[in-house]
Amino acid sequence: PRVLRVALLGGGTVGSQVARILLDDAEALAARAGARLELVGIAVRNVDAPRDVELPRELYTTDAESLVASADLVIELMGGIEPARTHIIAALRRGASVVTGNKALLAQDGATLFDEADAHGAELNFEAAVAGAIPIIRPIRESLSGDRITRVLGIVNGTTNFILDAMDTTGAQFEDVLAEAQRLGYAEADPTADVEGLDAAAKAAILASLAFHTRVTLEDVRCEGITGVTASDIAAAQDAGMTIKLLAIAELVPAGAAGDGVSVRVHPTLLPAKHPLAAVRGAYNAVFVEAENAGALMFYGAGAGGAPTASAIMGDVVTTARRIIAGSPGRAGTTRTLPIVGLESVTTSYS
Ligand code: HSE
Repeated sequence: PRVLRVALLGGGTVGSQVARILLDDAEALAARAGARLELVGIAVRNVDAPRDVELPRELYTTDAESLVASADLVIELMGGIEPARTHIIAALRRGASVVTGNKALLAQDGATLFDEADAHGAELNFEAAVAGAIPIIRPIRESLSGDRITRVLGIVNGTTNFILDAMDTTGAQFEDVLAEAQRLGYAEADPTADVEGLDAAAKAAILASLAFHTRVTLEDVRCEGITGVTASDIAAAQDAGMTIKLLAIAELVPAGAAGDGVSVRVHPTLLPAKHPLAAVRGAYNAVFVEAENAGALMFYGAGAGGAPTASAIMGDVVTTARRIIAGSPGRAGTTRTLPIVGLESVTTSYS
């Protein structure tokens, strides 16, 4: 059977779960992928750092560059812009395919990466970058590619949903609940990215780019987090039969005579208590998609965590391996350019 050499960049919460699955489920994965997926190494900053999962020590290396240079398929889970960007581009230029969960990089500079992938006949897949375990990238990119998506509403940050839900249930103030979210490990290392809405904004940019076949970057996203939401705001919403959720919103807006524009934003939003997204509790995520022919669809599940996010990574790994074996990597797809419209053009209510 064919062997594909797999390099893993990053040995953190998600990376160590990915390595575990690659080693423990090797036989089943080989049967599904059509090739044996050989984990050739795990690039980390510190070989001796304590890890969640016990793995053979000889797999670890600090030399990401050499690892990338020897791989057929690179899984990037370092996060952040550099050196992740450099390694991904190096892999794609060699014609190696890449699976990544790097929402910040995709939201900042996805277009460059897709162009590199297309130019070198490589694949770039990123199901794990938005909403962890929930299949949402492939449904938007592939399943709905024959429809016209008009709006995407997402609860795409578990930390803030946990906080708002706990405030809603207990009447507690924001600061007290944030401490609990950090203790449970939902928040990013720096919770600013969660509570100021930046993590959700990166995901909104990715979803909007895919849903509307246009280029949206983090800078295009109007963003307000939840630090200003008080216990009395929540109580007032409840009195009106509403719930406050931090939503990532991407929608087509008739931008005037010239045609459509797109509005992409993240902010605390009043939802009627009967809206399906109002029922998303705790740290769960959900994405609500409205399309012209499909109507409304909802995708729900765990948006973070090692094993759930590793599930999304592994789905991409198997799919990518199959396409490498078949010799036909998919293309990223053509893009158009839609104007970004300001909040003054948006009059939306969510019923
Ligand atoms: N901190 C993120 C969240 C993790 O709370 O959803 C997943 O990106």
